[in-house]
Amino acid sequence: MRIAIVGGSFDPIHDGHIQMANQALQSLGVDEVWFMPTASTPLKDHELTLNQERLAMIDLVVKQNPKFKVCTVELERLGKSYTYDTLKELIETYPEHEFYWIIGNDQLEQFDKWYHADELVKMAHFVCFDRDGELAESKYDIMCMTMPAVPVSSSEIRVGNKLNYLPEEVLRYIYRNRLYVKEFVAARLTEKRYEHSLSVARLCEEFALNNGYDMHIAYYIGLFHDIAKYMPKDEMLKWMESVCPENMEYPVAVWHGFVGAAVTKEIFLIDNPIIYNAIYHHVLGTSRDPYAMMVFCADKLDPLRGYDSSELIETCKKNIEKGFDLVVQQNREYLKRG
Ligand SMILES: [Fe+2]
Ligand SMILES: [Fe+2]
Repeated sequence: MRIAIVGGSFDPIHDGHIQMANQALQSLGVDEVWFMPTASTPLKDHELTLNQERLAMIDLVVKQNPKFKVCTVELERLGKSYTYDTLKELIETYPEHEFYWIIGNDQLEQFDKWYHADELVKMAHFVCFDRDGELAESKYDIMCMTMPAVPVSSSEIRVGNKLNYLPEEVLRYIYRNRLYVKEFVAARLTEKRYEHSLSVARLCEEFALNNGYDMHIAYYIGLFHDIAKYMPKDEMLKWMESVCPENMEYPVAVWHGFVGAAVTKEIFLIDNPIIYNAIYHHVLGTSRDPYAMMVFCADKLDPLRGYDSSELIETCKKNIEKGFDLVVQQNREYLKRG
């Protein structure tokens, strides 16, 4: 059989990788495409998400096409993985197969840095799928093919951009297992506001647990509640105009609730009316939905705010409605005092 290998850290796997695999099937006429996740990439240095998590996401993609497989040779090997060692192992294990090793344009440029580059091109067919239309020159025997661009990278996804380039199942997996989600928030807030968001998320979880509600939903409401807090004003204005122009008369400080709800849905693709509603109302406390009450209270009672809120926190744990009424009352007095 002719096998194309698509290697990468797949942290996470996205439409760009899938496009490469499909392209290999179509243009190279290979019988199968094997996704080969790396344990650690010699030329990259960011810390990789756990092997089992990356593998689980690849599995979700592999399930959708009988010609897709996953090859864990590099994951199983401890320490650095060089393509040379991997190919050697593949050739020994599967002498009946012919291998096509797919690389991107960025890898083509650096190919002379690859371990035993001269040997490599004799061991398998190296194929460069050029994504940006400007093919690098190479002295090596590498076949180059152009491929329609999929403008996304895993690093963009890890900070919560371009999530629409993830297969639906992978996105669901990411949220279910809380992969990257803290980075989504950290990338958009100051450190202090980020710590506050984590603290509110924890408190929301506790309130949910003790009041018999879904902790996972509560966590995401807490985590994302202030996501729009530092959005530049002109951008905020655009969101307000398109999402809720009727709310423009509210003070600007209140807007981040309305816009945050919309951003959570449109950018982070969390399409849950409960979450939308709770974030929407978190600044003013204008909803008596249990989740909205939880985040309103958690936001006001966050221990990081530096006053002793432990008594009210206990009340909210016992009975969120009662706690909510007390927090609303306290907030009203606080505002009156100015
Ligand atoms: Fe807020
Ligand atoms: Fe907040």
